[in-house]
Amino acid sequence: MLPPIPILFLLSTIFESGRSALLADPAQLRTTQYDFVVVGGGTAGCVIASRLSEDPSVSVLVIEAGGSNTQEGSDVIQVPFFAGDATPGTKFDWNYTTVPQSGLGGRSVLFPRGRVLGGSSSVNFMFYTRGPSDDFNRLARVSGDEGWAWDNIFPFVLKVDSLGSKTVLLQSEKHVPSADMHNTTGQFEPSVHGFNGPLLTSLPGFPTDIDGRVKNTTVILKDEFPFNIDMNSGNPLGVGWLQSTIGNGARSSSATAFLTPALNRPNVDVLIETQVTRLLQTGTSGSVPILQGVEFAQSRTGPHFNVKASKEVILSAGSIGTPQILMLSGVGDQASLTSLGIKTIVDVPDVGENMQDHAFVAIQWTVNSNKTIDTLNDQPALFNAALAEYDQTHTGVLADNPAGNQIGWFRLPEDSEILRTFGDPTGGPVSPHFELMFENGFFSFTQPIPTSGNFFTILVAMVSPTSRGSVKLVTNSVFDHPLIDPALLGSTFDQEVLVEAVKASQRFVASSPWKGYIVAPFIDSVNATTDQGIKEYAAKFGTTIRHPVATSMVSKLTDKSGVVGPQLLVKNVVGVRVVDASIFPFAVGAHPQAAVYAIAERSANLIKIAHGIQT
Ligand SMILES: Cc1cc2nc3c(=O)[nH]c(=O)nc-3n(C[C@H](O)[C@H](O)[C@H](O)COP(=O)(O)OP(=O)(O)OC[C@H]3O[C@@H](n4cnc5c(N)ncnc54)[C@H](O)[C@@H]3O)c2cc1C
Ligand SMILES: *[C@@H]1O[C@H](CO)[C@@H](O)[C@H](O)[C@H]1NC(C)=O
Ligand SMILES: *[C@@H]1O[C@H](CO)[C@@H](O)[C@H](O)[C@H]1NC(C)=O
Ligand SMILES: *[C@@H]1O[C@H](CO)[C@@H](O)[C@H](O)[C@H]1NC(C)=O
Ligand SMILES: *[C@@H]1O[C@H](CO)[C@@H](O)[C@H](O)[C@H]1NC(C)=O
Ligand SMILES: *[C@@H]1O[C@H](CO)[C@@H](O)[C@H](O)[C@H]1NC(C)=O
Repeated sequence: MLPPIPILFLLSTIFESGRSALLADPAQLRTTQYDFVVVGGGTAGCVIASRLSEDPSVSVLVIEAGGSNTQEGSDVIQVPFFAGDATPGTKFDWNYTTVPQSGLGGRSVLFPRGRVLGGSSSVNFMFYTRGPSDDFNRLARVSGDEGWAWDNIFPFVLKVDSLGSKTVLLQSEKHVPSADMHNTTGQFEPSVHGFNGPLLTSLPGFPTDIDGRVKNTTVILKDEFPFNIDMNSGNPLGVGWLQSTIGNGARSSSATAFLTPALNRPNVDVLIETQVTRLLQTGTSGSVPILQGVEFAQSRTGPHFNVKASKEVILSAGSIGTPQILMLSGVGDQASLTSLGIKTIVDVPDVGENMQDHAFVAIQWTVNSNKTIDTLNDQPALFNAALAEYDQTHTGVLADNPAGNQIGWFRLPEDSEILRTFGDPTGGPVSPHFELMFENGFFSFTQPIPTSGNFFTILVAMVSPTSRGSVKLVTNSVFDHPLIDPALLGSTFDQEVLVEAVKASQRFVASSPWKGYIVAPFIDSVNATTDQGIKEYAAKFGTTIRHPVATSMVSKLTDKSGVVGPQLLVKNVVGVRVVDASIFPFAVGAHPQAAVYAIAERSANLIKIAHGIQT
């Protein structure tokens, strides 16, 4: 037998490539003017930088607060199983905390965000869920731009398509075989996937003991929990196999998929460990301010630098960073800006408002089996064997998503009292109210992990909130955290839906495939047997699943509300476009990274068209 090869050695042979354009010191920049400056090298930012720089005559600078995604310690980013170790409270995290959440019994909760190349796509749980067609169609309605509709944006995610023009839309996704190379027939629908793009996606590659039970439950309770062969077809409803942004046993992020290839291009500079402090006015167009200057620094007291974007600034700093930078630049609510000593350039009250997020609770049961992840975590010999297998072959449990093999999306019954009372806030009939995720072991962000025992967990998420929160500045410095209020379970509707979702999870495990497997509810949820008991459980243990959106939300050109127009250009200023999760006007009925990739791909095309760049 070969001796085990250390993880980091193997990863470096896989991920190594030219790094010429990666700069960690602003003094190394070769010029003070680029065609485009991308603020934030995260999920959307890396797509924009990569697509725009396909034309060698276009110069692009990316400025990212965090470090490289291949720096020391990045095995937590690259080894799928370690996803839960990438955040919170690591050097890859912004370490944000929310303000006290009234919907969570007044608790403040951790609010992780990726602070590294690839942004949150480098630290997330890799779920690849595009969301319902209804949500994209609503995005089109709210923005007044049919280009965002599912049928029009779909080709950006899927396949080369001419859309009736000579523009060839580049394919984003590359669906690859699972780590164990099993036959995936019947686990996904190949006709709705891309096979030639940069972003790697795959089905689970390590079977678990619960797979068959979940699958059998979709047969026995098919009315309530039907099987869906592919939740990425536009209709996510039902239970299906999880697709993840994993390929060849490693995380595929916006950094590895999009930025790494672009780093070899001479027209791209990437400045890391540097924060954009604000945008600067560079002139006026008529009476409208042009904001194509970008100021940045590596620390509060260190030197501040600036560059000019001769064509556009693209803000891709995410749902927290983007509104923060806009407000620091004088684009925001005038009264709030004035109180912090920031000169208002344009009064846009909605900057930082309207935040939506997904709240969830984990609910666990003790089980009559030792083939769960708990055993792996409790027994160092088993864990080391799994590590050795991963090191040698990039297969086994460490090559897989630690957050389960199946998930499902559900609506309340159409005659539900809750919908009658509150109306339906979703995008339409294939847009879910809640989600269930099935975990082969104890899983929680808020409860201490038991040191012994075996468990089954269902993560129960409320994905159609009506509550809205905000991001607000506390000072006039980018180096101070803003106040973050995702308003988790902040409305009666949100709380009632979560109660129904928990009851659905309890019906799921009460079905015959779980007889003899489920032993009892875990001690923390023994009182979650009544609506009131479930509400108390959620107040005690609920938290965010880390999907904030809407803090720079899109609206029609003619709307007074909103921050960006249909082409995602910031209203009432010239030269600034927002491309990230902050533009979505409603929480997406999905884990949102795939929707972020989709809007980034289309935006790159819109930018190319706007500036006459070859697409
Ligand atoms: C822990 C976690 C788990 C998640 N799990 C999933 C999942 O399994 N599936 C899924 O679909 N979604 C998941 N999400 C959500 C998803 O990852 C995000 O919605 C998506 O990646 C957001 O993309 P973005 O481009 O808007 O922002 P980000 O990817 O967060 O990028 C923003 C970038 O801007 C940088 N930045 C911010 N401010 C500044 C500044 N002033 N100067 C310079 N740079 C700045 C940040 O460091 C970051 O790199 C998860 C998120 C987290 C945090
Ligand atoms: C977050 O906390 C970790 C652990 O304390 C620390 O190493 C890291 O630098 C912090 N991140 C930021 C952005 O301050
Ligand atoms: C995979 O399984 C399907 C259905 O069982 C079968 O038709 C197909 O030939 C198999 N593919 C391979 C490559 O074995
Ligand atoms: C699932 O159902 C099939 C058919 O009834 C049965 O053979 C199999 O044992 C069941 N699997 C589990 C894990 O319950
Ligand atoms: C699991 O339980 C079986 C039966 O009790 C036992 O033989 C086996 O050693 C256990 N495995 C582990 C890894 O604990
Ligand atoms: C369950 O309710 C009982 C009675 O109110 C209480 O004493 C106990 O602490 C509760 N247990 C948990 C885990 O919340």
